[in-house]
Amino acid sequence: MDVSASQVEEVVRKILSELSTSSTGSTACCAIPKSAKAAVLAEPKKFVVKEFPMPELTDNDILVKVEGCGVCGTDVHEWKGDPFGLCPLVLGHEGTGEIVYLGKNIKEDTAGHPIKVGDKLVTSVISCDNCFICRNHPGQKNLCWNQGIYGLVPIDPSNPFRGWFAEYILIRDPGSTYFVVNDLNLNQRMLLEVACVCVHALLRGQKTGLLNFNSKVVLQGCGPVGLMMCSVLRAAGINHVIAIDGSPKRLEMAKKLGAKTTINFREITDKKERVAIVQGLTDGAGADFAYQCTGAPAAAADIYDFIRRGGGMCEMGFFVNNGDYQVNPHFAMCNKEINLIGSWAYSAEDYPVTMAFLRQCKEMNIPIEDLITHTFPLDKMNEACEVNVAQQGIKVCYIPG
Ligand SMILES: NC(=O)c1ccc[n+]([C@@H]2O[C@H](COP(=O)([O-])OP(=O)(O)OC[C@H]3O[C@@H](n4cnc5c(N)ncnc54)[C@H](O)[C@@H]3O)[C@@H](O)[C@H]2O)c1
Ligand SMILES: [Zn+2]
Ligand SMILES: [Zn+2]
Repeated sequence: MDVSASQVEEVVRKILSELSTSSTGSTACCAIPKSAKAAVLAEPKKFVVKEFPMPELTDNDILVKVEGCGVCGTDVHEWKGDPFGLCPLVLGHEGTGEIVYLGKNIKEDTAGHPIKVGDKLVTSVISCDNCFICRNHPGQKNLCWNQGIYGLVPIDPSNPFRGWFAEYILIRDPGSTYFVVNDLNLNQRMLLEVACVCVHALLRGQKTGLLNFNSKVVLQGCGPVGLMMCSVLRAAGINHVIAIDGSPKRLEMAKKLGAKTTINFREITDKKERVAIVQGLTDGAGADFAYQCTGAPAAAADIYDFIRRGGGMCEMGFFVNNGDYQVNPHFAMCNKEINLIGSWAYSAEDYPVTMAFLRQCKEMNIPIEDLITHTFPLDKMNEACEVNVAQQGIKVCYIPG
């Protein structure tokens, strides 16, 4: 009988897990370290690697050995100037790793799947389930008034391991949501969170009824968010995406991920010319729908000109406040009867859909893993943020050294 390496590994894990079941019924795969390191953002632009004692683990805890975590634009925004007033904190919310300790009270993940030591895990939001939105509008839990997320919450005296830029993360907060993702590889798991932002935006856009096999869509901004949005649109059967950015490399990547046409706004500097190109590609009408993914107010003001009368636009590019813009509402909105929507983060319910999207990318050969261009160890997180700010690559990630 042929036995594969992964089958052997699975058997060894199972035996170790059974051997290490404590008298309380909680399980661990191995000796839990007495202390572990985390990159603490002590003040703006200053990550300091600190060693913290491991808190005593309870029957309600999950301890995860970190395998990797994407660096998000929001992390870099916080690194630049602490606008959220969270310092000192352990950042990193796009993380994944392997469960090394499981409290006996935890029987399943948030989707109801069985969970065990050795499983690969991702976290989603820390739900509140108690505010006006959670109680009255459960379909809009992404707009919860108190929603937390591991990696964007301050260090807690009882748990320093609340972010993924660390050796371990300790999932302990009531309302934590987490998913077993054993069938996804490390790159896919590190891209899951940003993919979830885009899947949520797709689902919002689909509510307008304007996204179908025949839709022509403008995608403005080809950073990690825009490029993932391009892949989500492609996987959803939108074959006519017109991607706009100022970076030839990012536009090239947009093409690889499914954009039909690209426009470099630094080469075609006259907006009227860019609008004429879009009209030429859309039977003279303008795009059916547009996704705004730049975070640049000037771009956000321009986008209306690319959209046809009766079309729609999803604003997803301002997770942080980058300032105002001015438009003429007569031309931009009222006269066009435009369908305007915003998209804000995601809720835990979007995670299973996003996992399906990641599997779909494999089947459709959409090379999303190529988005990861740089990796950095724990003591190089300042450099990781600098590379992100300089837009030297696309997706920058932390991988434990
Ligand atoms: N809605 C959400 O839940 C959510 C979640 C995360 C991030 N975001 C937002 O998404 C935005 C994009 O994130 P990112 O990580 O991809 O950022 P990024 O800065 O790497 O990418 C932005 C891209 O926009 C391009 N751009 C700038 N001006 C443009 C213009 N006039 N026309 C076309 N392209 C232009 C830039 O060249 C760049 O490639 C951020 O501003 C962030 O706030 C939203
Ligand atoms: Zn993020
Ligand atoms: Zn709530």
